[in-house]
Amino acid sequence: MLTTVIGGTASQELAKRLAKKLRARYLRSELKIFPDGECKITIYGKPEGRVIVVQSTYPPVDSNLLQALALISKAREHSSRVIAVIPYFGYARQDREFLPGEIVTMGVVSRLFRAVGTSRIIVIDVHSKIALKHFKIPAQNISAVPELARYFKKLKLNKPLVVSPDLGGIMRAKEFASLLNIDYIALLKVRNRKTGKVKIKSSNLKNVGGRDMIIVDDMISTGGSIIKAAEFLKKHNCKHVFVACTHALLINNAEKKIKEAGVSRIISTNTIPRETAVVDSSEIIVKALSNR
Ligand code: R5P
Repeated sequence: MLTTVIGGTASQELAKRLAKKLRARYLRSELKIFPDGECKITIYGKPEGRVIVVQSTYPPVDSNLLQALALISKAREHSSRVIAVIPYFGYARQDREFLPGEIVTMGVVSRLFRAVGTSRIIVIDVHSKIALKHFKIPAQNISAVPELARYFKKLKLNKPLVVSPDLGGIMRAKEFASLLNIDYIALLKVRNRKTGKVKIKSSNLKNVGGRDMIIVDDMISTGGSIIKAAEFLKKHNCKHVFVACTHALLINNAEKKIKEAGVSRIISTNTIPRETAVVDSSEIIVKALSNR
């Protein structure tokens, strides 16, 4: 099948890997920002056949989102099958009205993807499954947990225990732990919806002393959740703390603060390109593209 992969500026390397694995044409895009802040987006080459647009929407979220929409819109002029691969989907946390008057921006963003002619959308470890329901087009979430677990299999850890920083992530921790054939626990985290600050409410932990911890989460934004979890585990005399996450946003100096909280290493995937992104997600995207 003739396929064209277009790499948005946020995901050029991942898009190139994907094109290579699919034996597809690769088209590069470019972004120029006008002095007033407007984005000018250019695609180099003509999309043909099935078109796959790859663009994560990490910060600058709105600019990366607009690029994704513009690239899909352009691809749609040349093809009736345009698949959006948005490895990290920003706005997925705004999937419902938590406080009165809050706009469910995920709904607005989903409508924009439909409006520009997206035929199908693929995302990786989307923050909430409710977010996916806003798309009224075929939408698929794929898990990078097996890829992250495979990486951890190669590390020599001391009686490792998988830890979810909150109850919401318990199934992810369970999946990760079962792939490594080890135990898992979930902490009780509460977040103040107004300030965004988090607290760990769990009581005393047994069986943590002297063991290596693997905190598993879908994403790290400010690092608040990981920092509180790591401090809590350290207080219970664990040995090393490792973090496995799909999307390492690491806003401001989150990485430094996480290390200061006692975390030895952060391992993330290349849905967001950065130094911690040692786990490749292109293979799971290829599989998702072939399983309709
Ligand atoms: C929350 O439910 C998520 O799974 C993450 O734990 C959270 O979004 C991370 O944000 P932060 O790093 O700012 O605590």
